[in-house]
Amino acid sequence: MGADARKTAEGLTYLSGFGNEHSSEAVPGALPEGRNSPQRAPLGLYAEQLSGTAFTEPRAHNRRSWLYRIRPSAAHPAFTRTHNGSIRTAPFTQTVPDPNRLRWNPLPDPAPETDFLAGLWTLGGNGDATQRTGIAVHLYTANASMDRVFSDADGELLIVPERGGLLLRTEFGLLHVEPGHVALIPRGVRFRVDLLDESARGYVCENYGAPFRLPDLGPIGANGLANPRDFRAPVAAYEDVEGPVEVVNKFCGNLWTATYDHSPLDVVAWHGNHVPYVYDLRRFNVLGTITYDHPDPSIFTVLTSPSDTPGLAGVDFVVFAPRWLVGEDTFRPPYFHRNVMTEYMGLIEGAYDAKAEGFVPGGGSLHNMMSAHGPDRETFDRASAAELRPQKIDDGLAFMFETRWPITLTPQAARAEHLQQRYDDVWQGLERHFRPLH
Ligand SMILES: [Fe+2]
Repeated sequence: MGADARKTAEGLTYLSGFGNEHSSEAVPGALPEGRNSPQRAPLGLYAEQLSGTAFTEPRAHNRRSWLYRIRPSAAHPAFTRTHNGSIRTAPFTQTVPDPNRLRWNPLPDPAPETDFLAGLWTLGGNGDATQRTGIAVHLYTANASMDRVFSDADGELLIVPERGGLLLRTEFGLLHVEPGHVALIPRGVRFRVDLLDESARGYVCENYGAPFRLPDLGPIGANGLANPRDFRAPVAAYEDVEGPVEVVNKFCGNLWTATYDHSPLDVVAWHGNHVPYVYDLRRFNVLGTITYDHPDPSIFTVLTSPSDTPGLAGVDFVVFAPRWLVGEDTFRPPYFHRNVMTEYMGLIEGAYDAKAEGFVPGGGSLHNMMSAHGPDRETFDRASAAELRPQKIDDGLAFMFETRWPITLTPQAARAEHLQQRYDDVWQGLERHFRPLH
């Protein structure tokens, strides 16, 4: 599938930096000089602003872009409702929040001709899309490229591929994303997904809240964690296509469709900071202890969506990347804990150092608010007895969507055949070792 698409993907160039005021033109002279909306935009293009934050949000957090396009986005017929497939949206009220620790195997393979949008399957979430709070956790499976265009008014989409490369054709240009990379499509940005391999599978965090940004670094200093220059935005590229194109718009939980008489991926030039981007998780600068204990996993935060309470994220995107463990007199796997935050974990490749088995690439686990979890018995026994030489953890890439609100499941996730039935057994057999001194 997609030899041409792969060739295109591997030849792409990018603009470097997170949150930058980028500018790009696919045709020289397409960007107006010195103003955003001249009386007549260059080359007969239409000028249009796309706002990702309210006009009046603080400058440091304000997101908007100016697009110079063949036709304005307003030139479209009415949208009509279409079926939502397996996509669900907050508020999630069809099941009761579950305090149990839950774990799923990967989704079953999709039916033939399933594209990225048809293959989106919602596990659960929190908040309320209409209030712009909370998240949805989706998984996707696909075996066909999209011949339609999608946009999500409800939130930004953080795409975490686990299997198969993707070529994302967006209004802003093209992005190539492979397993081990993540891509972000901002709220409202139209895009299409081409597959670069026979099939594709992965995870999506749909963030209804404030746009993801880089976390503050505090005493860490000016560098570290995800470095801004490793985020890559597309250069302008446009489709000049006349003819019917289906555009699907997710709005307040429902999918709406319209057939345009042209491709809406017709942006010839743009500038701004409300842009899609990709990031290679292996570029993450992992920090950790060089004495004892390991820091809380917040040290692994790639991106954060802050809430109105300082330090309390609507959602953090956290990566467990290859790293050295050198702590002395330290239990080196993740410690046992109960967390006021809710943790959805996925695995991109290999194994995770707190679970010897059962947590597989493409699967996932949910540890809701205050649920008790930590290493399984085998991991505990091994780590408690291990000789504490410097040790490289290099066989896995796991991630977490960590959110301030409990995650409520969709019925399809609560009753899924791929929901593991005996996950609690992981913590069976943790024997008592207590020996009171007399
Ligand atoms: Fe945890």
